[in-house]
Amino acid sequence: MSKDVISGGQSIHAPDNLKPLLEKILQQALSVNEGKVADYIPALAEVNPEYCALTVATLDGNVTSVGDTTTPFSIQSISKIFGLMLAMERLGDPLWDRVQMEPSGQPFNSIVQLEWEKGIPRNPMINAGAILVSDVLVSHYSASKSALLSMVRSLCGSDNVCVDSRVHESEREHGSRNSALAYLMKSFGNIESDVEEVLDHYFWQCALTMTTEDLARSLAFLANRGVCPRTGAQITSHRDAQRVNALLSTSGMYDQSGQFAFTVGLPAKSGVGGGIIAIVPDYGVICAWSPPLNAFGNSARSMFMIRELANKLGLSVY
Ligand code: DON
Repeated sequence: MSKDVISGGQSIHAPDNLKPLLEKILQQALSVNEGKVADYIPALAEVNPEYCALTVATLDGNVTSVGDTTTPFSIQSISKIFGLMLAMERLGDPLWDRVQMEPSGQPFNSIVQLEWEKGIPRNPMINAGAILVSDVLVSHYSASKSALLSMVRSLCGSDNVCVDSRVHESEREHGSRNSALAYLMKSFGNIESDVEEVLDHYFWQCALTMTTEDLARSLAFLANRGVCPRTGAQITSHRDAQRVNALLSTSGMYDQSGQFAFTVGLPAKSGVGGGIIAIVPDYGVICAWSPPLNAFGNSARSMFMIRELANKLGLSVY
């Protein structure tokens, strides 16, 4: 028996037992030898490049996993989704006066565009945009870090979500480019709080560590019109879930977002720790992890695994 689920108006013909398919894709992914582990944050360079994991969490509560799916990894830019959710909830529409919703067409840590555009980042998924979002959190929460951590823990129903203090320190020590972005935005009046405090929140949130299973579970509300399928809680409005998915589709994979839309067709977000999450509306969440990155800062094996699975199951929303 296999199940037909409606996603983006299309029918997904998914087997009840996904495991054999995931096993096959993982084995194929292990022979993808493109890319190298991020080393501009030295603590990330120490991670074993052979780690490889693939999880699918469906809205009925099933979690199917293969590979290193219980090993926590640094979620890095995937954390930008959690920060954005909190900032959208706290600030509402005025947030969009301070950060745009357009693809940048530039690397995730590029500075040039930010000066041309007077300190207003192109979108909340590039580093400048996520630092701006961190400013909103620091300015509007008395304890921004614990607000974020408790949200993530309750979303995945696990206290195992932690922050890797070595990665946090390593980012702080080697974060000159992010500091430049933050001070440039401050010079244009688009950062309200103390820049060092804002950067500390940003570096801390990038250093969150999670397993592919917890990450997939935690983002299921984006596939379920804003409702956490595990608890039934309305995490965000249907409209805001759609908006976040739209941003992930256009900017979540940086300047490879077009290619990802073309070949996979799902809202997705990558992180330089090697993780990628992809949202399948009305079906579930795919989370893949393997540390070596391609030239765009996206995990080569994770991209391969998500593309194979999406194509096999016909998951594209387009
Ligand atoms: O600020 C940075 O550069 C990292 N903490 C996060 C960048 C990242 O994950 C980009 N994603 N592919």
